[in-house]
Amino acid sequence: MRMYDLIKKKRDGNILTEEEIEFFLKGYVNGEIPDYQAAALLMAIYFKGMTPQETADFTMHMANSGEISDLTSIPGVKVDKHSTGGVGDKTTLIISPIVASTGAKVAKMSGRGLGHTGGTIDKLESIPGLKTNIEREKFLEIVKNIGVSVIGQSGDLDPADKKLYALRDVTATIDSIPLIASSIMSKKIAAGADCILLDVKIGSGAFMKTRPDAINLAKTMVSIGEHVGKKTLALVTNMDVPLGRAVGNSLEVIEACETLRGRGPKDLEALCIELSANMMYLAKLGSISKCRAMAKKAIEDGSALKKLKDMVAAQGGDASILEDYSGFKQAKFKYEVKAEKNGYIKSINTESCGRVAMILGAGRETKDSNIDFSAGIFLNKKVEEQINCGEVLATLYSDDIKKCKSAEKILLNAIKVSDTPTNHTQLIYARVSTEGVEKY
Ligand code: URA
Repeated sequence: MRMYDLIKKKRDGNILTEEEIEFFLKGYVNGEIPDYQAAALLMAIYFKGMTPQETADFTMHMANSGEISDLTSIPGVKVDKHSTGGVGDKTTLIISPIVASTGAKVAKMSGRGLGHTGGTIDKLESIPGLKTNIEREKFLEIVKNIGVSVIGQSGDLDPADKKLYALRDVTATIDSIPLIASSIMSKKIAAGADCILLDVKIGSGAFMKTRPDAINLAKTMVSIGEHVGKKTLALVTNMDVPLGRAVGNSLEVIEACETLRGRGPKDLEALCIELSANMMYLAKLGSISKCRAMAKKAIEDGSALKKLKDMVAAQGGDASILEDYSGFKQAKFKYEVKAEKNGYIKSINTESCGRVAMILGAGRETKDSNIDFSAGIFLNKKVEEQINCGEVLATLYSDDIKKCKSAEKILLNAIKVSDTPTNHTQLIYARVSTEGVEKY
């Protein structure tokens, strides 16, 4: 088999066989196929696409390029969730303990933030003492005993994706639906859960900018999951505005705790209830409406918050901080950004908020940048809310006043205020399953 023939075959719009896909992925991971030929094939895939069978084969050979996590020693149904990324998305910290408190098991591997998007591992590490690089045996033990553990992704998981993603990033081949779907699903399959819930984001802070593209990506991922025997569902949700009010690591942990106390922002709480209910449904805990009621009860009776505290303690963290937030590192400056006119918040550009949080110190510009756990933004006003000139729009947290001043300008540009009340923004657009697309 020759790589040249595979590139030509895909360039001409033909279908690759499973053997050809395996030849490419094995050869690329072990260094026999050079970057320039891999890049040419990726570009051919970008333009010609892949059939569902090709996408499933591509996914499985990516997943099998490294370690497949074995969760069979954990009794019960193991359920995983993946969000395609966004700003202020702290849902994992809320839904994992909700779902675990109702009996399903959550053995989750998460990532770090890069660029304008945050990562769950950074958020968790803002809790003093908490470890996310724990031994595999201990991780399995915690999930068995408590029902939930969230750790960093193992270095041996899906090496094909690590290499291909880096190449896609520099060859303008990221935004191809079959390549995104196989990248995400190969990692989820390698992570070993029995069922997978996907949160596919649309909007100014997301990869997918339109509903048809997001629904298409959701359908592709659901079909891959089902093809390899994992029950898979997707919700297509709004990332046109940051989720909740907090953006930044410890600020988001605090907001997650407040949500588990029933005092969180309404959009965040509503999305978390829906995501949790769908995870429980996948774990066969009942109908969607029964699972929704169970999720609400886990917040009301405090059992989900208790689960989070138990997980934090089991991973070496100081769980008392979830009661008394003053134990988190505090930013030197809390800088108020004031409204320049009266009106209603019309829009908040999500990507700009992510950039502002990064400037303040909350995010990484490159993989090796240091982050400040206390840095970030609190949006005192959100879309649809009324504001008067001089009132506080947002509070910036940073150790550097100069950073606050440059962030203020970007944030003021990112928040549009209109004279008239704005239309209600939809939070969840659709639910995609093997049965079809259910519009909300
Ligand atoms: N997230 C991933 O993990 N992979 C992609 O290709 C895009 C988003």
